[in-house]
Amino acid sequence: MAKNNPLIVIITAFLVLSLMLSLVKAAPKNITTDQHALLALKDRIKYDPTNLLAKNWSTSSSICTWIGVTCGVRHHRVTALNISYFGLAGTIPPQLGNLSSLRVLDISLNQLSGTIPSSIFQTSSLEWLDLSDNQLSDSFPSIIFNMPSLQVIDFSHNILSGGLPSDIFNYLPNLKVLSLNGNMFDGQIPLQIGNMTMLKALHLDNNKLQGMM
Ligand SMILES: *[C@@H]1O[C@H](CO)[C@@H](O)[C@H](O)[C@H]1NC(C)=O
Ligand SMILES: *[C@@H]1O[C@H](CO)[C@@H](O)[C@H](O)[C@H]1NC(C)=O
Ligand SMILES: *[C@@H]1O[C@H](CO)[C@@H](O)[C@H](O)[C@H]1NC(C)=O
Ligand SMILES: *[C@@H]1O[C@H](CO)[C@@H](O)[C@H](O)[C@H]1NC(C)=O
Ligand SMILES: *[C@@H]1O[C@H](CO)[C@@H](O)[C@H](O)[C@H]1NC(C)=O
Repeated sequence: MAKNNPLIVIITAFLVLSLMLSLVKAAPKNITTDQHALLALKDRIKYDPTNLLAKNWSTSSSICTWIGVTCGVRHHRVTALNISYFGLAGTIPPQLGNLSSLRVLDISLNQLSGTIPSSIFQTSSLEWLDLSDNQLSDSFPSIIFNMPSLQVIDFSHNILSGGLPSDIFNYLPNLKVLSLNGNMFDGQIPLQIGNMTMLKALHLDNNKLQGMM
């Protein structure tokens, strides 16, 4: 019997690869995925002064009727999550990254703490990302370059720290607003920021950044 026949090796490799690809494609995301993601968030909220989510985010009604949630008319997926100024304390669950049709994520003006799950930066449809005025502590998410549609990044007034990666700013061609003020970022201001032609507002003050634009 032929040992290590190259043809058999190639065919086997091909079959294994096809199987892996079919597994990846097997679970299309739908409104049920979105519900799981929102319930994971509800679960992470440790303080909800008016019991807003506890009362309103009820599994007996469609998530599209939940306060702060907007669904798309055609595809019936969550397109916006805006829980700004709900007074919530807690952390952000990685499941939020499963809201794969999300265009707007506004969780500003709460007391959310902990790190920003990197899965959020897999929602390539995201245009508006406002995490401002929370207590998020993390480094700048370098993985953000996966999101060419982003127009607004507002991370202001958190406790984010570390340097700003220089290369990512080449991959955000549509960015109009970049607000990183009121954090603990340090190091040099990346020169690449000066090359962002769409940028209309840039706030970097109240950090420990150096350099000139
Ligand atoms: C969503 O997809 C899962 C399988 O991935 C399926 O079991 C479920 O019925 C679907 N839900 C809706 C509302 O289509
Ligand atoms: C949740 O809030 C929305 C918007 O205020 C409202 O339309 C909906 O009826 C509420 N649902 C429940 C179950 O209270
Ligand atoms: C989120 O809701 C608040 C309060 O209703 C509003 O001021 C803000 O503009 C909304 N955010 C976005 C991105 O639409
Ligand atoms: C959603 O996200 C979590 C964590 O990122 C993951 O474990 C889970 O399998 C994802 N998919 C669905 C369909 O909920
Ligand atoms: C900015 O863009 C110009 C022209 O495309 C290029 O030559 C330069 O290297 C860029 N600067 C940085 C810091 O990437």
